[in-house]
Amino acid sequence: MRITVIGCGYLGAVHAACMAKLGHEVVGIDVDERKVSALSAASAPFFEPGLDALLKEVQETGRLSFSTDMASAKGSSVHFICVGTPQKKGENGADLTYVDAATRDLLPYLSPGDLIVGKSTVPVGTAARLAGIIEQTQPAVHTMWNPEFLREGHAVSDTLHPDRLVYGIAGGSEEHIAVQVLDRVYATPLETGTPRLVTDLPTAELVKTAANSFLATKISFINAMAELCDAAGADVTMLADAIGLDDRIGRKFLNAGIGFGGGCLPKDIRAFMARAGELGADQALTFLREVDAINMRRRTRVVELARELCGGSLLGQRITVLGAAFKPESDDVRDSPALSIAAQLQLQGAVVTVTDPKALHNAARRFPELHYEESTEVALQRADALLLLTEWQEYRDLDPYEASAFVSSSKILDGRNILDASKWRAAGWTYRGLGRP
Ligand code: UDX
Repeated sequence: MRITVIGCGYLGAVHAACMAKLGHEVVGIDVDERKVSALSAASAPFFEPGLDALLKEVQETGRLSFSTDMASAKGSSVHFICVGTPQKKGENGADLTYVDAATRDLLPYLSPGDLIVGKSTVPVGTAARLAGIIEQTQPAVHTMWNPEFLREGHAVSDTLHPDRLVYGIAGGSEEHIAVQVLDRVYATPLETGTPRLVTDLPTAELVKTAANSFLATKISFINAMAELCDAAGADVTMLADAIGLDDRIGRKFLNAGIGFGGGCLPKDIRAFMARAGELGADQALTFLREVDAINMRRRTRVVELARELCGGSLLGQRITVLGAAFKPESDDVRDSPALSIAAQLQLQGAVVTVTDPKALHNAARRFPELHYEESTEVALQRADALLLLTEWQEYRDLDPYEASAFVSSSKILDGRNILDASKWRAAGWTYRGLGRP
């Protein structure tokens, strides 16, 4: 099939490459010339494991191209909308400017029978509104919503082997012709038994926001337990292991630490609350305000613990922050708790050096006032305290004996609770975890 993917960010670039991998002929469209020329040269404009290799592989088949010209959508039968829906400036709601513009700009290039499939995370009601606009000029074009659940760092495998496919269509009928068209797009994952759920449009939109809200709640729940463990002298990692063995609870997403960040969870729970307010159902989601507040408190807590670790004052203390990305295997620093903590420490008088295997370029654009160092070894030199804030494998593998040779004071705050505390203490370090005695 010939497919258009509009928006070539973290979602669209991966989706375009994966659709070509599934055998389709794909054109990726983005307004950003820099992104389009990087992708055309088989180089992803961001770090995502496996994506460069996949781009190269599918471009060699001639099935994948990129363009800044919306007219290249002409001739495709399926058009995926993958543009961003960031948080509005100064408000909790989602900014739908890009989704609206992509749909409007696409309209002149559609033919009867074409399918527009939204993948962006949108407030419930958006798909029906867009379907109304599309129907006015293109009554024979179908609109579907097919939310994407990929995780950064695992985006390629999550797209090629999704754990479920959700198709939203007005009326929610399995018999709709558009459902059969989307089945052809996803023929390969469907053949391997991927569950497929056909729903109406608002349910499909809500599946995505509900899933992200649940994940955020799980993380804030365990972080609230970490606060209690700190107060009671208990160990939150053991607590998570023990409650996680109950398969109704499960151990995944129960890692207490500095909290969640990134381009999705924080803005999605806020947009969800804002939308619930518009729908007159705000009470249903007031708990998400607490989820957000617990998450933000983690950052303040780490700054306070760092102060304690430094003997009561941050002034002039040389602090090395290990990790800037919001999570490992990503160079994404959007709402990164690690970077926000680094900036706070610097504001409060510490001399902060930040290191990260992939995210320094993005970090420096967001917080140019911080000092960045590529080499972990150099970053460790003469540090008065280390803060491990993103759990990259290379930081998990740090040897406490070797590391102590570089630093000026052997103190470490493990913001992700991933180090073996007894091993670090045995090597002479003052070790602090979060919610661990
Ligand atoms: C998330 C959803 O997982 C994905 O399904 C959706 O499509 C987009 O949003 P992503 O933003 O890539 O994906 O990151 P995710 O792996 O969910 O992690 C989010 C944040 O939670 C990270 O900052 C991570 O460090 C943090 N986290 C995760 C914890 O603090 N503890 C955990 O146990 C798990």
